[in-house]
Amino acid sequence: MLVFRKKEALRQHLQEQRRSGTTLGLVPTMGALHQGHLSLLQHALASCGHVVCSVFVNPTQFTRAEDLEKYPRMPEQDLALLEAAGCHTVFLPEVEEMYPSQALTHMHFGPLEAVMEGRYRPGHFSGVGLVVSKLFNIVQPDKAFFGQKDLQQCRIIEQLVRDLSFPIEITLVPTLREADGLALSSRNMRLSAAGRQTATHLHQALQQAARALQEGASPQTAQNGALSYLQGVPELEPEYFCIVEGGTLQELDTVLQAESVALCVAAYVEGVRLIDNLLLAPYTITTTTTRP
Ligand code: PAF
Repeated sequence: MLVFRKKEALRQHLQEQRRSGTTLGLVPTMGALHQGHLSLLQHALASCGHVVCSVFVNPTQFTRAEDLEKYPRMPEQDLALLEAAGCHTVFLPEVEEMYPSQALTHMHFGPLEAVMEGRYRPGHFSGVGLVVSKLFNIVQPDKAFFGQKDLQQCRIIEQLVRDLSFPIEITLVPTLREADGLALSSRNMRLSAAGRQTATHLHQALQQAARALQEGASPQTAQNGALSYLQGVPELEPEYFCIVEGGTLQELDTVLQAESVALCVAAYVEGVRLIDNLLLAPYTITTTTTRP
């Protein structure tokens, strides 16, 4: 496995790979890798001849300085995991390499970012769009892989690819969970054992609301039920619980006409912001691929 810290050296290395006609895959991450990231890598390795994993904690997507500061960083452990999992190339740049001067470009994703994460973290998706565009331009992959846990991010990146004509195929990979339902996340490692236990209520609230919808409740009723359930959990502070159309991410009055339904939640546990979502059957994502 080769590790690059400079974009020019990486570009040259990848040019050689491209010349050999191999399919190039990109798995963008912010490090502190867990099995969820390794599952992205496995999907990439299954369909690409050469896989690049980027490890970069992107400052422009953090809306709270404290969150950026506390984001777990463990590059040595990440490199060991990636090597053992069969990754071919790692891009591990410093902030100055990605942002040699202050970026002045801002991105807006209209209705896609007016809800949920975008509503509570203004500017977050501008930072995501910016860094993902940089990575797409540096690596020029044929395919890129993102986790369904960040569903809104996935929809925004699909839009970015369409709007900017990136010739890149985007694949969404399903969320991996612990046995008790907790979605794998790098942020989980900031939780105490008790906090980790509290965090399992996010998945329970999602399941409860999914059951309510399947039994005929309106989205509003299911949402209110899930929110009051979460409000009743000590040490958990819900931020939002939304029931939206899975593609447009717009809130639903009824699920009857919806092509897909996504239940999305964000909450704080021990000061750590956690998100999770569920896509309802028969629209559950196994692995979907959208071409530009
Ligand atoms: O999902 C993430 O880890 C990040 O938002 C991403 C896509 C690597 C961009 O920094």
